[in-house]
Amino acid sequence: MSSPRPHTVTAAGMAPAPQLSGNSLPMQALRAQIGRIARCGAPVAIRGESGTGKELAARAIHAQGARAGFPFIAVNCGAIPEALMEAEFFGCRPGAYTGARHERQGLFQAAHGGSLLLDEVDDLPLAMQVKLLRVLQERRVRKLGGSADEAVDVRILCASQHGLARGVAAGTFRQDLFYRLNVIELALPPLRERRGDLQVLCEVILARLAPGQAVSLAPPVLAALAAYAFPGNVRELENVLERALAFADGGVIALDGLALPSAAG
Ligand SMILES: Nc1ncnc2c1ncn2[C@@H]1O[C@H](COP(=O)(O)OP(=O)(O)OP(=O)(O)O)[C@@H](O)[C@H]1O
Ligand SMILES: [Mg+2]
Repeated sequence: MSSPRPHTVTAAGMAPAPQLSGNSLPMQALRAQIGRIARCGAPVAIRGESGTGKELAARAIHAQGARAGFPFIAVNCGAIPEALMEAEFFGCRPGAYTGARHERQGLFQAAHGGSLLLDEVDDLPLAMQVKLLRVLQERRVRKLGGSADEAVDVRILCASQHGLARGVAAGTFRQDLFYRLNVIELALPPLRERRGDLQVLCEVILARLAPGQAVSLAPPVLAALAAYAFPGNVRELENVLERALAFADGGVIALDGLALPSAAG
């Protein structure tokens, strides 16, 4: 039995192919780009504001590619304490540190054959960046406390809000790792630049939040949503709709149920 990894990992080996909804030109272009990216095995660096769908895009790349039948693992690089990082990524042997009683697989071994999403990759400490670089170069990992390397075959996807070049310029991200990870760049447009997607997104999200129920938007609601800046993008839209649904009367979401933050509305 492997130990639990509460805050870091989601695996979706057999999950249905995720959908990036929206018919705006930027979304059509994005889906076409994802289709092309999925066919190759190169590393992808995904950039986009909070809630724009970076993880969804990574899952789509995985699901449409040759690795689809293998694990997809997402790890939030900012959420692992630095002291545990090496064991978390590469696994550990019994006795590698106090309390390490069992042999443990790392994320790389768990993702073997599939894809590993390094989310918030710009939060990786420099010492860990060096170790990651070596693994990407050699395609082999060594468990903490181990003496032998094992081959791993993993497609690396990474995500950040601001892109990796910013960290390189600031001296917090290694340039050699940047070149390894940033082979293909995928930028997700913010929701305010594709307001034409709002209606479809509302439909998709409401169908997910209230399956089997007929929910509609009162006429001024869409206009109010279109006038709002959505700094939290699609995730914020989900939250707005979830709250509005709780206040909906007879399956109709009314303007006063929206409660959009007023400053930006
Ligand atoms: N185009 C889209 N169509 C449908 N749902 C979407 C779309 N984009 C994002 N979502 C939904 O919005 C939520 C946020 O998406 P996701 O977690 O992929 O964003 P993120 O960019 O990784 O966010 P964060 O920066 O907060 O990590 C998810 O519930 C996702 O399903
Ligand atoms: Mg994310």
